[in-house]
Amino acid sequence: MIVEIINKKRLGKILSKKELEYFFNGYLHGEIMDYQMSALLMAICIKGMTDKEIFDLTDIFIKSGERFDFPGIEVDKHSTGGVGDKTTLIIAPIVASLGVPVVKMSGRGLGFTGGTIDKLESIPGFRTNLTDDEIEKQKKEIGIVITSQTKDLVPLDKLIYALRDVTGTTESIPLIATSIMSKKIASGADKILIDIKVGNGALIKKEKDAKKLAQLMKKIGEFYHREVRCMTTNMDTPLGTSIGNSLEVIEAINILQNKEDNYLRDLCIELASEMVSMGKDISVEKAKIQVEESIRSGKAYQKFLEFIKYQEGDIQRLEVSNQKIEVRSKRSGLIKKISAEDIGNLSVSLGAGRIDKEDQIDPTVGILLNKGVGDRVLEKEILCTLYVNKEVNIEQVEKIFVIE
Ligand code: URA
Repeated sequence: MIVEIINKKRLGKILSKKELEYFFNGYLHGEIMDYQMSALLMAICIKGMTDKEIFDLTDIFIKSGERFDFPGIEVDKHSTGGVGDKTTLIIAPIVASLGVPVVKMSGRGLGFTGGTIDKLESIPGFRTNLTDDEIEKQKKEIGIVITSQTKDLVPLDKLIYALRDVTGTTESIPLIATSIMSKKIASGADKILIDIKVGNGALIKKEKDAKKLAQLMKKIGEFYHREVRCMTTNMDTPLGTSIGNSLEVIEAINILQNKEDNYLRDLCIELASEMVSMGKDISVEKAKIQVEESIRSGKAYQKFLEFIKYQEGDIQRLEVSNQKIEVRSKRSGLIKKISAEDIGNLSVSLGAGRIDKEDQIDPTVGILLNKGVGDRVLEKEILCTLYVNKEVNIEQVEKIFVIE
């Protein structure tokens, strides 16, 4: 039966729900081995899946674990992962300040992309392990909660995701759609905005794949009666100017305090407007006026402070390393490229991210980009500032900046 199923998919045939259940539930229960699942995943990667197979697999994923369902409508946002992506920290308080509740189960970072929970934990005292009762109470009282997963949501995804990571099967569109949508549906979100990152620092490298993924996730959403909207945003270059946990919290605060006017701010306004539009059933244009007003008036920042305090964080004690290295340009010219992937890997090597799940991270280290793509730089001018707690090979860092 095991080999038959693998062969069937290898030949591009359609698997029944029973066959998918047998294989995937068997894997969850340790009856199917890693090498057998790897073969099936690779066959899926190459031959694809029909919509019916994708709906069936999503259902099997959801049923593999527990589910959340808090009373009242919630709007969730999910990013497929990027370098310097601190948008959740900015958007959630904006949206909540406008009366649309946000309850978010976020993850930790692995590899060169960061996780929202790691960023929040850089705030001393901040609690990320809330109980169900605490989540419900906080949602009722302040309308915004960001916590790590308490329940065992979609355990099958955790197993499959780890296996995909080491078998060259991360880039399958049906598998990505199943992975993301099963978690969003299990976590109880009624309306879901998905920010699909595209570029060298993202899982999805091509625009046309992002479009396919968006269509597929919308179809899964329809199947489960959830409203799904998708946005495709660039991830060739890191998002914003800071990479590293405390540094990213500081950058988020600067945006919420209305101190910056840049691409990150514009992107957050766009994402927040979509969420408010979904949450209030109003046009995106109307929502955008409210979102901009919330930032301008300081209402969004007040909601951020309320949220951090409620989860026991002390923003005054946020710390960055006092050991700084300024990396200067060897030549004058125009900055053509700053690879998101390279910057992400640099931040991991400084200690801001993990290579293994068990790695401890240093919240105080990271990179501040003093120059961005399209900027002119003079010889000896600062390209970036590293906040470190260990030795760094500066020459490697200089090479990340392509200057012509
Ligand atoms: N994010 C997920 O949760 N799953 C994927 O497969 C890819 C991105």
